[in-house]
Amino acid sequence: MLNNKNPKVMNSDFKAGFIPTEVYKVEAFGNSFKLIDTKGNKVGTLGIGTGNRKSAFEEGMALQAFLQKNGKKTYRKVGMDVYNNLVIPMNTDNGGVQFEDKGDHQAVKDFIHNSSVSLKPNELVMTPLKWKYLIRSAVRAKNIMMTGPAGCGKTMAAKALVKALDRPDFYFNLGATQDPRATLIGNTQFDKNKGTYFSESSFVKAIKTPNAVILLDELSRAHPDAWNILMTVLDGGQRYLRLDEAEGSPIVKVAEGVTFIATANIGNEYTSTRVIDRAILDRFVTIEMDVLNDEQEFGLLKFMFPEVDEYNLKAVAEIAHHTRTQSMSDAGKVTAMVSTRASVEMAGLIYDGFDLFEAAEISIFPFFSNDGGVDSERTYVKQLVQKYVKDESNEALFNEVETETKEEEITW
Ligand SMILES: Nc1ncnc2c1ncn2[C@@H]1O[C@H](COP(=O)(O)OP(=O)(O)O)[C@@H](O)[C@H]1O
Ligand SMILES: [Mg+2]
Repeated sequence: MLNNKNPKVMNSDFKAGFIPTEVYKVEAFGNSFKLIDTKGNKVGTLGIGTGNRKSAFEEGMALQAFLQKNGKKTYRKVGMDVYNNLVIPMNTDNGGVQFEDKGDHQAVKDFIHNSSVSLKPNELVMTPLKWKYLIRSAVRAKNIMMTGPAGCGKTMAAKALVKALDRPDFYFNLGATQDPRATLIGNTQFDKNKGTYFSESSFVKAIKTPNAVILLDELSRAHPDAWNILMTVLDGGQRYLRLDEAEGSPIVKVAEGVTFIATANIGNEYTSTRVIDRAILDRFVTIEMDVLNDEQEFGLLKFMFPEVDEYNLKAVAEIAHHTRTQSMSDAGKVTAMVSTRASVEMAGLIYDGFDLFEAAEISIFPFFSNDGGVDSERTYVKQLVQKYVKDESNEALFNEVETETKEEEITW
C-alpha cells in the first residue's frame, strides 16, 4: 500500500487494543450460537463462552478480538457496524472492493434505509435523503465533506453522524488553529534529561486508531499548510502522514477503517469565503447542507422554543427567509443572510424576554453593512424587522387593522 520510496514507518510501541480484522457476528442455529467471520465462514467458538455469544446475539452486537497489554486475546462486544464495515466494499480507492455476499448487502441496505432514520436527532433539520446519503457515505468508508454557508448545520450534522456511527471519534477545529504543524503533527521538545524528543499531536494518535471517525471542522478556514499536510493523509492511495517535509522522513500510516468528515463554508456560489484547494476537495464526497426555507425554519424554532409565541417565531423565520432569498438573487437588496444559527439565537433571546427588535439588534443587524447610511443593507433589515414589531400603543388604537395586515404578512 505504501508507495515507492519505502519510507520508514514510525516505530510505534505495542499497545493494547482491538484487532481491526478479527470481528465476528453471531448467528443462532437452534440453541447454539455460531461465530461468522467477515468472509461469511463459520468459525469455532474461539474460546468464547456460550453465555457471551448468546448475549452478543441478543443485543445485536458483533464480537471483536481485543489484545491486552499482556498479549492475551479476549473478545469484546462492538456495534454491528464494525463487522459490516469489514464485509462490505471499503473505499475503493483504498484497496478495492472486498467480498460482499447477498445477505450482508441486505443488512447494509436495511441500515441505510431503515435503522439509520431513527439515529437522526430530532433537532437536526435535514432531508431524509441527505441523511441517508450521509450514513451511506460513512458505511462505504468515504471521506465526507459537509458544505454550505455559515450556520446552516454542517458541524451539527457531522457530529450527529459521528454519534450515530458508534466508532472511536476525534474532533479537530482547523479554523481555530494558528499552527497547523503543531496541531496535525506535533512538537519537537527539549527535556534536560531526555534531550530533544518528538511529542506527537493528538491528530497522530487519532489516525493510528482503527475505525476512527475524525472530524475536521472548518477545513475551509484552515491554513494552506494544513491542507498540504493533509494531502497524503486523505488520499486513498497514500494514507500516510509525513512527519517532516524532508524526503525519506518518517511517516505514520493511517489505520484501517479510518474515515474523515470535514466541514467547509462553500457550496453556495453566493457566499464569499476562501475557496478551498481543489485537490483537497477531490479527496471527499461532498454533501451540501440545504438552507432551510421559512416553514422548516419555523418548525425548528417551534421545536426548540415551544414556549415562545408563534407570532414572534414566524416573524423570525420570515425575516431570515427574506434575507436568504434576497441575498441569493442578483438584484437582491442585501448580500448577507440570516443563518439558522442566528435565527435560533434570536429566538433564544425572545425566549429570555427580549422583544423582537432588541433580539434582532443583537443577533442579526451586525451581519449587515452600515455603508450607505439610509440606503444601507442594515437600514433595509431594520425596516424589515420593524414591519413585524407589534407596537403596544398602536395595537390598542388600530387593533383590527393591525391584526389583519399582520396575518396576511405571516401566511406561509
Ligand atoms: N439544519 C439545521 N437543523 C437544526 N439546527 C440548525 C441547523 N442549521 C443550523 N442550526 C442551528 O444553528 C447552530 C449552528 O449550526 P452549525 O452546525 O454550527 O453550523 P455550521 O457548522 O454550518 O456553521 C446549531 O447549533 C443549531 O442550533
Ligand atoms: Mg461549523
